[in-house]
Amino acid sequence: MNESRYLRLVEDDHRYLWHPFTQMRAWLDDQPIVIERGEGNYLIDVNGRRFLDGVSSLWCNVHGHRKAELDQALIDQAGRIAHSTMLGLSNVPAIELGQELVSVAPAGLKRVFYSDSGAEAVEVALRMAVQYWQQTGARRRKLFLALTESYHGDTVGAASLGYSEMFHRYVRPVLFSALKTDPPVMFRLYRGLTARDALVAALEAAKAVIERHREDLAALVIEPMVQGAAGMWTHPAEYLREMARLAREAGALVIFDEVATGFGRTGKMFACEHAQVSPDLLCLGKGITGGYLPLAATLATERIFDAFLGDIAQFRAFYYGHTYTGNPLAAAVAVANLKLFRDEALIERLAPRIALLSQAIEAKIAALPHVADIRQCGLMVGIELMRDVARRERYDVSSQMGAKVARAARKGGVLIRPLGDVVVLMPPLSITDAEIEHLVGAVAEAITEVTLQHD
Ligand SMILES: Cc1ncc(COP(=O)(O)O)c(C=O)c1O
Repeated sequence: MNESRYLRLVEDDHRYLWHPFTQMRAWLDDQPIVIERGEGNYLIDVNGRRFLDGVSSLWCNVHGHRKAELDQALIDQAGRIAHSTMLGLSNVPAIELGQELVSVAPAGLKRVFYSDSGAEAVEVALRMAVQYWQQTGARRRKLFLALTESYHGDTVGAASLGYSEMFHRYVRPVLFSALKTDPPVMFRLYRGLTARDALVAALEAAKAVIERHREDLAALVIEPMVQGAAGMWTHPAEYLREMARLAREAGALVIFDEVATGFGRTGKMFACEHAQVSPDLLCLGKGITGGYLPLAATLATERIFDAFLGDIAQFRAFYYGHTYTGNPLAAAVAVANLKLFRDEALIERLAPRIALLSQAIEAKIAALPHVADIRQCGLMVGIELMRDVARRERYDVSSQMGAKVARAARKGGVLIRPLGDVVVLMPPLSITDAEIEHLVGAVAEAITEVTLQHD
């Protein structure tokens, strides 16, 4: 790659593009990495530099890049048809994928509704829940209960539920209100309780709000085991199990958003398996295509599905959909993705990789002076940095510590993206032992360098 091509690309990026979640003023002053290729767990930029994909290209890549089986599935399907609609028609890969998803899904989920992104999978679940109650006579059930700092995507419904002051403050006027309850991590980190007491306190808090809304709660919506975008906030399986039980006891539905946690990230196919609890509606995205193409799905129980059956004139259909719903290219790759899980016994082989990641973090990162908390569930890790760990004093927002660590890690050949001052590691499931050591080593060096500079 010659320098002039790189500079031209950057110039055109700066001239024509608007990047998501990005302060464009800072972006326009910077020389971005421009990715051209991928190879296994590495991203390769137009200048030929190789970077370990430390956050799975925003939490979605599963088997690495250019996985032969996924490439082939895409090529084969492109040789048949790229797209046809699901409105009034069906297509082969969408049908095959439906059957595959139901066969791996938590018990009771029997119907698959496709969309294109995680946020849409959540929108679909919310709309299904509301319509379900309207059509089954419990018309008062319109409220949703979510966890404080949960993140469910950026469409208006999903953002109403997973409201974040940082991300969504300017759309607040058009969001609907949702009930919130604090998860255990907030009681542990911000109120100084032990893990056990934090669990008890969080459940007490949830019980109170659910009790107050016994008659009007439509559904509990929760990211099982890990609240990803909150900063990899983990909770014990017991919390998830009890929350589902409390919601159901009050007659409400249970919605699990496994857009981030699904497809092996937490060490199980789906995170809710840790608690052995199934939802009424399950939201899937990201890893569903192995991180190749935009596809999402909302899975429902037969009880929910049945409530939408009726004569045409009753208008009980689920009037929702998008142009590319059930796209054959994406569905074909998703089928190949699930086949790889099976053929490679991927989930069964994850445990040693997860243990090695914990050991490497323990050995190289845990004792660093500004590391305040390490949260890990499977291959999802959050390393929280603080200015003064003993006094639990945060860095000033403008110090941008997480961003600086991510920038410094590039020198060690690693690409990561933080959440505030939480350094996030979420490698592809295919990461090798040597790559785990590389990832953790480079991040440890980056944390040391950046925090020392700041001291
Ligand atoms: C738990 C969860 N739900 C929903 C979403 C939104 O997914 P998408 O970005 O594909 O709309 C995300 C994205 O990070 C997520 O982590």
